[in-house]
Amino acid sequence: MTDTRFDSAYHAPVLVAEVLDALKPKPGANILDGTLGGGGHSLALLEAGATVTGLDQDPEAIATARARLASFESAGTFRAFQSNFVDFDQIAELDGILFDGILLDLGVSSHQFDDETRGFSFREGAPLDMRMDLRRQTADGGRQRDGGGQTAAELLNDADEAELKTIFKDFGDEPKAGRLAREVIRRRGNRPFETSDDFVGAIRAVLGPRSGPGDFARLFQALRIAVNGELDALARALPAMRDRLAPAGVLAVIAYHSGEDRIAKHAFREWSLSCICPPKQIMCSCRAHSLGALITRKAVNAGAEETARNPRARSAHLRAWRKETQAPSSARKA
Ligand SMILES: C[S@@+](CC[C@H](N)C(=O)[O-])C[C@H]1O[C@@H](n2cnc3c(N)ncnc32)[C@H](O)[C@@H]1O
Repeated sequence: MTDTRFDSAYHAPVLVAEVLDALKPKPGANILDGTLGGGGHSLALLEAGATVTGLDQDPEAIATARARLASFESAGTFRAFQSNFVDFDQIAELDGILFDGILLDLGVSSHQFDDETRGFSFREGAPLDMRMDLRRQTADGGRQRDGGGQTAAELLNDADEAELKTIFKDFGDEPKAGRLAREVIRRRGNRPFETSDDFVGAIRAVLGPRSGPGDFARLFQALRIAVNGELDALARALPAMRDRLAPAGVLAVIAYHSGEDRIAKHAFREWSLSCICPPKQIMCSCRAHSLGALITRKAVNAGAEETARNPRARSAHLRAWRKETQAPSSARKA
């Protein structure tokens, strides 16, 4: 039986037992939860005796988790900061701290998804917003290329055909990405994109009347990933987080999108290799030692009972990596 104690009306965390098994928080362990959400994973870690620092770019998540974890905050074992996890090393209070464990549970929470005003879902009439960090509105409502500031509507109304095609193809695995990009451009020439219905209309026009919720969910997710610069943030955050792990510290990532999972998989594999020189190079000239080891050889998925209870868990892939206990005293050369 999976534990439902950490669920809340805000969000039901996935793979809680598996996360605890990967991070193995000892009493007093210093853990960074980079995606606090409703605080479910943090609560499990706090109950295990860890000290938790939570980050979330969404102010509502911060407020919700702080209210839920108030007793731990009063006791000095929990604190929270509103920040994108990619900027964690710019938080002055965290300067110089090495973490025994870091968790990233990517994507959006159920509450964000269900809140019609946020525009993450394709529910009828929802505004095409999708920004996780509502502070990042540019002064003129214009777009920032790093994914900050622009809404999904702005992206659909401003991006050129090549950019739209890349978003639909790379983030949405859409075989008709080029046609969908052209359809978006054709439609916005008549009337700008404003609500979910406008984008659903464009998808239906290209994918046909048999397209349905699965297609809408996939392409809305692609748009959300672009709006929030999610893959770029993950790719940049992972090495920085690795460098802020204490010896034998663990980095755990739960991904819900194949692109996110690939980034974590490749990073963890590469860091675990003892030589990263090109295969044909005779003399090793690289770091010549692994930086740590994989804890999960394959992604860990939720079991049948959890996916029946929490459909969100179906697409969750957990990967974890442990940093070397000590840096090798001298690099080995071949
Ligand atoms: C799946 S939910 C996390 C749920 C959480 N583990 C729990 O137990 O409730 C993902 C959360 O991460 C936040 N988030 C996503 N990407 C982020 C980023 N780059 N930086 C900070 N927060 C992020 C979202 O706002 C959302 O609240």
